[in-house]
Amino acid sequence: MKTTKLHIIQADEVNTGIKLAARTKIVKALSGALADAYTLMLKTQYYHWNVTGPHFIALHEMFGAQYTALFATVDELAERIRALGQEAPGTYAQFAKLSQIKEDAALPKNWGLMVQHLLEGHEAIARGLRSAISVAEDGEDSATADLLTGKLDEHEKTAWMLRAHLA
Ligand SMILES: [Fe+2]
Repeated sequence: MKTTKLHIIQADEVNTGIKLAARTKIVKALSGALADAYTLMLKTQYYHWNVTGPHFIALHEMFGAQYTALFATVDELAERIRALGQEAPGTYAQFAKLSQIKEDAALPKNWGLMVQHLLEGHEAIARGLRSAISVAEDGEDSATADLLTGKLDEHEKTAWMLRAHLA
């Protein structure tokens, strides 16, 4: 009589058609995107709290909407990493190491500089996402490529809104 051995699936075992090597590369790209978004979220909230000047209400509200959107983004990126079977970073130390966006040494002197810093952040994220998307595509991970493409669109739109304040 033929016996079949029961295979007990482990929590980090993923068999959805993406090889481990590709998943590791994709997770690295996603972790960078997560750290970028988290750092920019904190910066946006910092400005939401501290902005002053003639456009106070408009900027306070716009920054509020922007950090709320980034809060949703970080969750989606982290959960995509988990769906790929790997660990999502979640400490300030990890984010500082992984992020291409740097924290402010001090509060920017005026609202115009705040808008400019956020604009630079969204543009940097858009550039980073473009290469993360090709990493996902190389690994035939359409779900990640799709998620990141949607985020790219959001960041480009936010960049436009910030840029419009500087005109
Ligand atoms: Fe608030």
